Amino acid sequence: MKNLFILGNWKSNKTMTEAANWLEIFSKNMPQIPGHVSIIVCPGFIHLPLFSSRTAPFALGVQNVSAYETGAFTGEIAASMVANTVSYAMIGHSERRKHLGETDEVVAEKVKRVLSVGIRPVVCVSDVAQAEKLAASVPEFTKTGLILYEPLFAIGSGKSDSPENANIAAGSIHGILPETPILYGGSVTAENVRGFVGTEHITGVGVGGASLDAAKFLSLISAAL
Ligand code: PGA
Repeated sequence: MKNLFILGNWKSNKTMTEAANWLEIFSKNMPQIPGHVSIIVCPGFIHLPLFSSRTAPFALGVQNVSAYETGAFTGEIAASMVANTVSYAMIGHSERRKHLGETDEVVAEKVKRVLSVGIRPVVCVSDVAQAEKLAASVPEFTKTGLILYEPLFAIGSGKSDSPENANIAAGSIHGILPETPILYGGSVTAENVRGFVGTEHITGVGVGGASLDAAKFLSLISAAL
């Protein structure tokens, strides 16, 4: 059976109380998850202790890490600081590329950092060229990395790409990274998720807005199974 990854990206949202409420509802209502399915939740850094202090029925990820090792980098969270807490790290989300000037070079540095401490990188790309640069600059990415393909127009817009188009883009990325699981992201909902995970090249989804409400995220997971 093909693996399936469902990754929730909370972005810059939720107080501690809101996160605790979400976790309460989610944990109580989570369906039985088959072995080939990985649920990954990427909350804010401040929420990590809340999540890791419980036996959460999913894997934990972060939305970013520093491009540097530990040391005099005020405000940064180094990959090694979260290595014992999370299994995945999103790198190079298009919002970071756009608002925080994250270049392909910075993305490559961050990927190296997380690989060096045993975290699986989930590199976000909005086109095939970004995947090409990654493959060329960090060949070791292919061992454990995942790609989250998110076309810019589809992020947070309520207008997802079609499964057909997304599958074509994922096929091109597979031409460069044949072994890498490719997730689609951009306005994924409980209503459209099946279309994406049913395609040849797409092995899961990245979910922003629809992961913020525990009940909605649970419906999406059930629809994808
Ligand atoms: P969205 O965000 O589901 O709200 O479109 C997806 C993402 O940016 O990861």
